[in-house]
Amino acid sequence: MKMSLKASVVIVSVVIAATAVLALENGLARTPPMGWLAWERFRCNTDCKNDPDNCISEKLFRTMADLVVSEGYADVGYEYINVDDCWLEKERSFSGQLVADRQRFPSGMRALADYVHSKGLKFGIYEDFGNYTCAGYPGVLGYLQLDAQTFAEWDVDYVKLDGCYAHPSEMDRGYPEFGYHLNRTGRPMIYSCSWPVYQIYAGMQPNFSSIIEHCNLWRNYDDIQDSWKSLETIFDYYGDNQDVIIPNAGPGHWNDPDMLIIGNFGLSYEQSKTQMALWAILAAPLLMSVDLRTIRPEYKAILQNKKIIAVDQDPLGIQGRRIYKHSGIEIWARPITPTFQNYYSYGLAFVNRRVDGTPSDIAVTLQELGLYNPGGYAVEDLYEDVSYGVLTPQTKIKVKVNPSGVVILRADVRPTRALAQQFLEARTPYDPYQQVFQVRRSSFQKK
Ligand SMILES: *[C@@H]1O[C@H](CO)[C@@H](O)[C@H](O)[C@H]1NC(C)=O
Ligand SMILES: *[C@@H]1O[C@H](CO)[C@@H](O)[C@H](O)[C@H]1NC(C)=O
Ligand SMILES: *[C@@H]1O[C@H](CO)[C@@H](O)[C@H](O)[C@H]1NC(C)=O
Repeated sequence: MKMSLKASVVIVSVVIAATAVLALENGLARTPPMGWLAWERFRCNTDCKNDPDNCISEKLFRTMADLVVSEGYADVGYEYINVDDCWLEKERSFSGQLVADRQRFPSGMRALADYVHSKGLKFGIYEDFGNYTCAGYPGVLGYLQLDAQTFAEWDVDYVKLDGCYAHPSEMDRGYPEFGYHLNRTGRPMIYSCSWPVYQIYAGMQPNFSSIIEHCNLWRNYDDIQDSWKSLETIFDYYGDNQDVIIPNAGPGHWNDPDMLIIGNFGLSYEQSKTQMALWAILAAPLLMSVDLRTIRPEYKAILQNKKIIAVDQDPLGIQGRRIYKHSGIEIWARPITPTFQNYYSYGLAFVNRRVDGTPSDIAVTLQELGLYNPGGYAVEDLYEDVSYGVLTPQTKIKVKVNPSGVVILRADVRPTRALAQQFLEARTPYDPYQQVFQVRRSSFQKK
């Protein structure tokens, strides 16, 4: 079925009071963190006897650190090698310190951090605010200061603090307290919080102004699983709740829709491209959870797509939004650099969630998407490596999107001083939070 989209844009001029955001300023995560994280692919496999190459062990992390460098991931920005659950002994030491599993991490965590640093990378670790981690290892409750100090002594660069076996109502106090102790060590460590998601599960309304103030990133929704269905529930959640979620993102503080599962078992090639494109629009951390020893070249190419990574890492740090959703077709847009006067450039993702097995056409003018710069935009396709030259706001673009696939474009604003100045006089300045462009649903026409 061919579809054409004749849409118009409504500028919603709801004025949201400009509130100064008080954010965690530890100098870290100015753009969304990038790296490799064990959990989604390797889980809590502790059976090094029968599965020595895949169990959670220092060997696995050293191998992945090696591959992040040798296979070119570090060159495109992947930096952190992050341990997740199941690295601990079940008991603390006599003096109360956390101890890494003696069989699986015989050299200890400091040695592993040293190894990761020797590769020019950074080292992340996992703990839990409650009495236990989700897999039942000792949590930090009762040991907040000691554990923060231990991580600093081990030269950790990134701490993910989960929220199992904890009271969600205590998190408003507990997460800031652990953050305070991290800060007091004097060692800059990215602080990744699971605080809002556990409160949302408990029916509470998270206090995002406090979360922004204390965390560099946080999880809002379910753990990602190895399936397209799981991925769809995540981008539906971020789209459906975008008005609450988007304003919380910015340099130093990010929403985390969870790991990239590209290159594993559950996503097709098209679906993998969709995850990468939408994570870039969402200004999401790019944490690969995949076996870098066996990943196929086409999936590696998706993870290493520099143009999409550049959208994700855009210095403005404005999270994008879903601007159109109807009959299985979605359009997502993210304001990015370069800017010219009051005009932004954009990352634009066209997603086809239809299951009829032929590509769908989406046709729309740039101005229908909210791109009004009179000087036009230099438009290119970020997967196909095709440049469309400079298009005016009146140009109709038509993209063919494969089922469960994506087309992602980048539209860079073109400065033309005289024209723009003239246009400016007739307009109030564009503010991504104040003037939300939306493609009107009713204007969607099916042929
Ligand atoms: C954690 O353990 C303490 C001491 O046993 C207990 O009082 C508290 O209720 C536990 N917290 C949770 C969330 O289970
Ligand atoms: C600790 O917090 C202060 C105040 O926000 C900040 O300037 C400093 O960089 C932080 N230090 C570390 C190590 O996180
Ligand atoms: C949310 O956190 C902020 C900053 O810590 C605090 O000032 C405010 O009182 C909190 N709001 C609620 C409703 O608890």
